[in-house]
Amino acid sequence: MAKVDVLLGLQWGDEGKGKIVDVLAPKYDVVARFQGGPNAGHTLEFDGIKHVLHQIPSGIFRQSTRNIIGNGVVLDPVVFKKEIDSLQKYNLNTRENLFISKKASLIIPTHRLLDQAYEQAKGESKIGSTLKGIGPTYQDKIGRQGLRVGDILSDKFTERFKHLTTLHFKILENLNITYNWPELEVQFLEAVNFLRQFKLVESEYLINQEIKNGSSILAEGAQGSLLDIDFGSYPFVTSSNTVTAGACTGLGIAPRYIGEVFGIFKAYSTRVGSGPFPTELLNEEGELMRKQGNEFGSTTGRPRRCGWIDIPSLKYSIMINGVTQLFMMKADVLSIFPTIKVCTQYKLADGTITEALPYELVNEKITPVYKELKGWNRTLSVKSIHDFPDELTQYIDFLEDQLEVPITLISTGPDRIQTIYRPVSVV
Ligand code: GDP
Ligand code: IMO
Ligand code: MG
Repeated sequence: MAKVDVLLGLQWGDEGKGKIVDVLAPKYDVVARFQGGPNAGHTLEFDGIKHVLHQIPSGIFRQSTRNIIGNGVVLDPVVFKKEIDSLQKYNLNTRENLFISKKASLIIPTHRLLDQAYEQAKGESKIGSTLKGIGPTYQDKIGRQGLRVGDILSDKFTERFKHLTTLHFKILENLNITYNWPELEVQFLEAVNFLRQFKLVESEYLINQEIKNGSSILAEGAQGSLLDIDFGSYPFVTSSNTVTAGACTGLGIAPRYIGEVFGIFKAYSTRVGSGPFPTELLNEEGELMRKQGNEFGSTTGRPRRCGWIDIPSLKYSIMINGVTQLFMMKADVLSIFPTIKVCTQYKLADGTITEALPYELVNEKITPVYKELKGWNRTLSVKSIHDFPDELTQYIDFLEDQLEVPITLISTGPDRIQTIYRPVSVV
């Protein structure tokens, strides 16, 4: 029996998942998304072209890879149509090698409106949502009144759609937003017609058959562990389980079929949207990091908040996910800093020093305890680990020692080819 490897972000998203899934895809027969939706923005870069995927798995550019959008995903047909249209010129065989679960939840236009209205009503305490309708769609799923992709095949679909929008309109009446419904409705129904042309399947059967056949499968996480609905900095989180367990429920895979868990993290930290961020740099260093790392959201274009790496939160994510290998991204961005700081512990308001994430992450005043390491402070033009400046090797060794999981891949730039494998030496 084959195992399903899982690749997921250990921080607040945007760790570089898209790039690495694309790099690893040739080794896999199947790539599958298991949660989230168009709030994700996964960037791939090769042959001088940059692609940003939102709902389509990042294995799509590898001709022989089959791609699955699993039942745990929330799918917006309008965004889906735009994505497919933008891929048209690359002659990808999306009608053949893309499979969409009938059990995936449908994002309808009123979900986006509700997202916007709820955020507006929250005022200062807003989540900083991408406003793609994620929260309201998962709310309807859990509330057992949502629509699923498979419903679009029913001749009762329009009726069901109208029923749900009527419920939504009642809520929207009390919230202050304006919209052009006829336009949104036409756009949605057109996109639904388009979606009908694709392979809508019982993806849990498909994936378990692949497992039986011995196919290699990679589950592609979206967002990051610190945005997980259960384990993230609640309420400043997304509305799905972004952790390894989410791959089981979001694809219909039994836990015993999970193989490697690749935990991906930036050599520093970023966060987009509101919520606690203990190592955030609200100074020139933070500005410099944002500029050097081009830290602007792939989905919304918003500037990402930047800060030093945070060991307690990484350890927490490693624990929840059962990470077996670590991938460190964007090492090149730290090349500008003569000194690099690593947060090894938190100091709480009452003076307690801890490595544990406090329950009151949102209201607790956390002061990071830093260890300073010498930076390499020169451009990284490296082809193998043997070309690494000593200070970079020391940085990796230090992190590996702290995190107790081998770091087996280092990324030194956005392109596919700027990826360096590191043989397992420790643990
Ligand atoms: P994802 O959501 O985890 O797929 O990550 P995003 O695509 O949202 O954000 C990662 C950004 O960093 C993208 O713009 C990538 O092209 C870029 N990137 C990925 N790896 C590296 C790297 O090693 N160095 C640099 N400088 N950029 C990288
Ligand atoms: P990828 O897959 C970074 C953040 C939003 C907001 C919170 C809730 O590209 O790593 P939502 O739209 O889900 O209601 O927003 O989560 N967020 C992300 N941040 N990367 C993402 O995805 C994100 N998806 C959601 O900024 O703070
Ligand atoms: Mg992203």
